[in-house]
Order: sequence, then C-alpha cells, then structure tokens
Amino acid sequence: MSFPVITVDGPSGAGKGTLCLRLAQALGYRLLDSGALYRIVGLQAYEAGLLSNTSTVLSAADEDAIARLTQCLRIEFLPQSSGRVDIVVNGHNVAAEIRNEQVGSYASRVAALPKVRAALFDLQKNMADEAGLIADGRDMGTVVFPNADAKVFLTASAQARADRRVKQLQQTDVAADYASILASIQERDARDETRETAPSKPAADALVIDSSDMDVDIVYDEIKAFCQQKGICFADDSQ
Ligand code: C5P
Repeated sequence: MSFPVITVDGPSGAGKGTLCLRLAQALGYRLLDSGALYRIVGLQAYEAGLLSNTSTVLSAADEDAIARLTQCLRIEFLPQSSGRVDIVVNGHNVAAEIRNEQVGSYASRVAALPKVRAALFDLQKNMADEAGLIADGRDMGTVVFPNADAKVFLTASAQARADRRVKQLQQTDVAADYASILASIQERDARDETRETAPSKPAADALVIDSSDMDVDIVYDEIKAFCQQKGICFADDSQ
C-alpha cells in the first residue's frame, strides 16, 4: 500500500517550515524535515574537524569520511506534547543547535556531496512507508519523491527572507545584522541552486508560489486548494 506524499521544496526562510507543520497537522501526516538531516551532518562533520570555517573545497578523502559519518548517525525525531520536536542524534538533543546560520552553511556544503545525499536517500524515502508524508526540502519533488501526489515550490526574494530572519532573531533577543544575514542567504542559495547533484529547483509539475508579499494564511489556502485538486482530502473538506 502506498501513502500520499506532498513535497514542499524551496529556499530557507520562504515559510516552508510553518506551512509544512500546518499541513501535517491538518492531514494527520508525518513530517520530514530533510533540511534538519543535512544540518545534522554539517554539524557532525564540523565537530569531527572535517569542515573548516573558510575553505569551501573538500578533498575526496574528506567526502568519504563525511559519508561514513552520515551512515553511522542514529537520528530520532521525537515530537513533544508542547508541539516542539526534539532531534536526538547519537543520544544528544541537537534541535536548537542545528538552527543557527553557521550550521546552515555547513549543511549546504555537505549537501553538495553526492555520497552524503546517497547516504540519506533511503532514510528519507522510507518515511513514506507507514503514513502520509509532508516532505520539506530542496529535492523532495525532483529526486526523493518524484511520484509525489502534490508538489509545491515555495520561494521568496532573498531580501524578504533576510528581513523575516532578522525579525525572528530580534524576537529571541539575538543580535541580528541584516547585511550579513542577506549575504549568507545569497551564498547558500547560489551553492544550493548550482550544485551538480540534486540542485534546488522546482519540479516540472510543481505549483510555484512566491511568498515575498503574501500572508501565510493565503499561501496555506492556495496550497490546500492545489492538494485538493490533486485528490488529497482534508478532514474539514465538508465545511
Ligand atoms: O532547509 P534548511 O535551511 O534547514 O536546509 C539546510 C541546507 O540543507 C540547505 O541550504 C541545503 O543545502 C540542504 N538541503 C538539501 N536538500 C534538502 C534539504 C536541505 O540540500 N532536501
């Protein structure tokens, strides 16, 4: 038996996280945060001394070592009653640590390595074996779930995404510098979009939404209507 899969791809800060959580809750599906997987590998590779802060070029030996490290990771996503999800890697909760900009940059570097992507492929694919799935990432609709029931590509201008990130950080009292956040977003976008393996791009059959000037409720309604057209039933369909 196969379960429905909805893929939501696009760059960081376009609003995928919020929308995917809302879709998963409305449909009772599982949620795959594939970006968290690459962030975990990036953090682990850095801690193992396999990524320096500055150099972008990795040797074949380093790529092999990072792929081996990826294969050995024991990753658990543990939803808490508060709605928070603990992400436990080899016994340690890394949920907060993997969210910072620096780890995002490590993630984007290891994500360009074909052996790392191959090592994470089955783990992602298998998540659709037991229940419906909302898959959030860059290559969910193009590579991991090419036969997904509905595919969305959610984007926004780099400026709008930097602006949102600054506001988010200010709410947590973390100092935020717009110019450096924008530069880091642009650098990561360029790497993700131009890499040879699984570059970030919309699938040919994806609904593309630019959320730069859109309210989150409008974006959600548009995605919901698109999923309904594709035959996916929401519990509140009759209302
Ligand atoms: O979405 P998030 O910002 O957490 O992703 C971190 C990085 O992981 C991205 O910049 C991208 O390089 C990588 N990624 C990827 N493929 C995915 C999900 C994330 O290459 N499916």
